Amino acid sequence: MHWNIQKCPALNCEIEVPGDKSISHRSVILSSISTGPCVVRGFLASEDCLSTMAAMRALGVEIERPTPTSLIIHGTGGKFTAPTSDIDCGNSGTTMRLLSGLLAGQPFESRLVGDPSLSKRPMKRIMDPLSLMGAKLTAEGANQRPPLRVQGGPLQAIDYQSPVASAQVKSAVLLAGLFAPGVTSVTEPVLSRDHTERMLEYFGIAPVREGLKVSVKGGSRPEPRDFRVPGDISSAAFWLVAAAASPGAHLRINQVGLNPSRTGLLAVLTRMGARVREFFQRDHGEPIGTVDIEGAALKATHIGGKEIPNVIDELPVLAVAAALAKGTTTISDAGELRVKETDRLAAIAGHLRAMGVPVVEKDDGLEITGGAPLKGATLDSLGDHRIAMAFAVAGLFAEGETVITGTECVNTSYPGFYDVLQKVRLSGDHRDATVIKMEESLPALD
Ligand code: S3P
Repeated sequence: MHWNIQKCPALNCEIEVPGDKSISHRSVILSSISTGPCVVRGFLASEDCLSTMAAMRALGVEIERPTPTSLIIHGTGGKFTAPTSDIDCGNSGTTMRLLSGLLAGQPFESRLVGDPSLSKRPMKRIMDPLSLMGAKLTAEGANQRPPLRVQGGPLQAIDYQSPVASAQVKSAVLLAGLFAPGVTSVTEPVLSRDHTERMLEYFGIAPVREGLKVSVKGGSRPEPRDFRVPGDISSAAFWLVAAAASPGAHLRINQVGLNPSRTGLLAVLTRMGARVREFFQRDHGEPIGTVDIEGAALKATHIGGKEIPNVIDELPVLAVAAALAKGTTTISDAGELRVKETDRLAAIAGHLRAMGVPVVEKDDGLEITGGAPLKGATLDSLGDHRIAMAFAVAGLFAEGETVITGTECVNTSYPGFYDVLQKVRLSGDHRDATVIKMEESLPALD
């Protein structure tokens, strides 16, 4: 599939985005370990999260799906049955890594497989701590790449210093820790998203947090709870950047997750000159609310250090913002981008250059000199949803047509993205803000 994108003259919208991907995965996993039925609403019906749902079903969990975005999950108290075939994690690193943590304490072997992109992603980062806990993990691919065999069994608690700031690693260890007698701790070098910690707390297990260290006590099980998944700030990011870089534009995002470990994008766009306001409505275990943004002539900034884990998934679209901003933006300490769904540093550099933007690619970052008009180009997604969507946003600002090829991958996180893009592009033609609700923008995937 491909998209044809023309320039967007003006933007005035009010948008609801689909459920948060990270939180949707965790809601299914924690509900499955809980001791009774849990209702999850606002679940992201995307391929990645459906991979997690199918995996939990393959482990014997009964999950009803009365509507595409609501689930009734009958928690098993943490006892699962051995899968009768491979567990297919599709494109989803979160599924493979978090499930490995869960399976480490189960008395059977599972084999986790993924698509060609996931099969190139590093698994050593979870194999190391889970092996220290006593599970036997074997990667069949070269350099500890998937497929991954997890032979679970009795675990022992560990106090783990993670070399990477990764919420997936932290979560895998904490999930395994629930099955290990004693206290399991993880310390990360920089704070990564804390959804697992918040959700454990919401489900009645109090992890102890001391700075960058978080600990759980083994043996505890989540209590059954109903949960509403907030909108995904990483999906909102595409519209937020489109609005931020259009002087005179106005955009409101409703019902979106505003967890401070995920809103670094708003701080970056503010530094670049956009006017951003956050309104907190309620806290359902997770902060949620509304973001208002007004566009401006953006200026360059620096993104690096502790901010990186907070904006890790937004860097492709922030690189597009940099291309539209006057001056040279530097991104550093972002080597993790090389091991995402594709090598995102190489993808961003190549695609921006194809649009006429001067870019210097570094080992762990980019220097992007923005401000000149973008040229339309034909660009491939490289199988990476965020590359496809980020460059679709770039297309809204380019002279001439932009074509994005290989766009099927967008179903991993944002089914319906292109329909929303079309509405956003035409929103400036209307006097009133174009209101885009989630139900109408999100096609149901099975
Ligand atoms: C995620 C954590 C991040 C992020 C990914 C989702 C999660 O990955 O990039 O899209 O849900 O825990 P890392 O933990 O590898 O940084």
